[in-house]
Amino acid sequence: MSADLRPAVQSISFQALRRGFWVQEVLNQYVQKTPPGLTLYLLWAAISLAPDQRGESMYAPHTLVNEAVNATLLDKNLSYAKGLINAVLRRVLRNDKIYQEISEEDHPSYPDWWIKKLKYAYPNDYIAIVQASKVKPPLTLRLNQRFFSRDAHRQDYLKQLNSLGIEYSDILAIKDQSLSHAILLKDAIPVSQIPSFYDGACSVQDAGAQLAAELLKPRAGQRVLDACAAPGGKAAHLLEQFDIELDALEIDVERAQRIKENFERLRLSGGAVLVGDAQRSETWFNGQQYDAIIADVPCSASGIVRRHPDITYLRQEADIKNLQVTQRKILTSLWPLLKPGGKLLYVTCSVFPEEGELQAKWWVGAMPDASRLKAPGQIFPSKQNDGFFYALFEKIKT
Ligand SMILES: C[S@@+](CC[C@H](N)C(=O)[O-])C[C@H]1O[C@@H](n2cnc3c(N)ncnc32)[C@H](O)[C@@H]1O
Repeated sequence: MSADLRPAVQSISFQALRRGFWVQEVLNQYVQKTPPGLTLYLLWAAISLAPDQRGESMYAPHTLVNEAVNATLLDKNLSYAKGLINAVLRRVLRNDKIYQEISEEDHPSYPDWWIKKLKYAYPNDYIAIVQASKVKPPLTLRLNQRFFSRDAHRQDYLKQLNSLGIEYSDILAIKDQSLSHAILLKDAIPVSQIPSFYDGACSVQDAGAQLAAELLKPRAGQRVLDACAAPGGKAAHLLEQFDIELDALEIDVERAQRIKENFERLRLSGGAVLVGDAQRSETWFNGQQYDAIIADVPCSASGIVRRHPDITYLRQEADIKNLQVTQRKILTSLWPLLKPGGKLLYVTCSVFPEEGELQAKWWVGAMPDASRLKAPGQIFPSKQNDGFFYALFEKIKT
C-alpha cells in the first residue's frame, strides 16, 4: 500500500471496527449466506460508512454504492460479487428505517463481559463510556513551554494557527485539575501540517495524559523516574516544565528509541533513556533513590478504545486479572526506589476499577508507609479527553 493511502485506509478500517457488531447484525439479516473473504470485507466496510442515525456520514449513500461496486473490478476474486454488493448496499442504504429495525445501541462493538463490567461499576455512566468510543478521537496538542520561552511567543504561534485556518480551543482543566499546555484542534490534521512541529513547538498528546506532569509537579533539581516511559509523552512534558533529572525507563528497545527521538525533536535536556524491566530494578537501578516516580503501567487500554478500536475484539476477560497482577508487581518493585517523602503517580488509560480504584485501595492497604494524596482518580473518556486513572501516593517518612 502506498504511504499516501494509509490515512484513508486506516480511517475506513477503524470505522469498520467501531461499528463492527452492528454491521455484523445487518449482514446477518440482509445476506442469506456469509460471503467469502474479500466480498464480506468490502460489504462490511461500505455498511460501516453508512450515515449514522442523525444522517451524518463521510460519504453520500450513492457514492458508497458506486465506489464499492467499482472496487469489485480491482480484484478477480471480487468481480463475481458485483451484483450481490450492489443489491445488498442499495437495500441497506436506502432503508430509512434501518436503525429502527436494527438498533445500533443494542449492538455496541464490545464483548458482553466488557459491558457487564462497565454496567456494574458505573450504572449511570456506562452508556456514555460506550458512546464515547464510537466517535473519532480529538486531536490535542501539548505546547512545548521551552520552545515558547526560547524560540517563539505563544501568542504569535496561536495567531499563526488562526491564519492557517487551524481552529482550536484551550483545554484549561479536567476534573478540577488545571492544565497549562493543552489545545484541542477542531479538526484532526497530519503533524506535517502543524506549524514548527518538527522544530519542537508541540507534541500530539491527549489532554488526559497531560495531567501527569501537573499532578507530579517535581521541584527543580529533583530526580524523577518514568518507569514505563515510551513513547515519552509524559516524560517529555515533565522535562518541558521542570528543571529536573529524569530517567525514562522502557522495556522495549525499539520503543525506547522513540523516547530519544522525541527528546531530541523537542530539544530537551536532563533526560536519560534506560532500557530495562520495571519489575527487575536490580538490572538497571544505580542505587540512588528518586524524589518522584511515574508508574504509567501496561493496562487494558479500555479508556482509549476510540483510538484503538481493535482492542474490544482482541481483549479477553482473563487479561484484566493478569494485568492487575503485573501492575501490582511493578508498583511493589518501584516503591523501594522512592525516597521517604517522595511521590509516586500511578496511571492507567483504563476505565476498569480492577486497574484503577481497586488497585489504589489495595496499595494503601498493603503498604504501611504509603499515604494517598489528592488526584483525579477515574476520568471517563469525553469529547475533550481520553479515559485515564490517576492515583498519587506519598511515601511517609518514618
Ligand atoms: C502506557 S505506555 C506508557 C506511555 C508513556 N508513559 C507516555 O506517556 O508516552 C506503557 C509502556 O510501558 C512499557 N512497559 C511495559 N511493561 C514494562 C516493564 N515491565 N518495564 C518497563 N516498561 C514496561 C510498554 O512497552 C509501554 O511502552
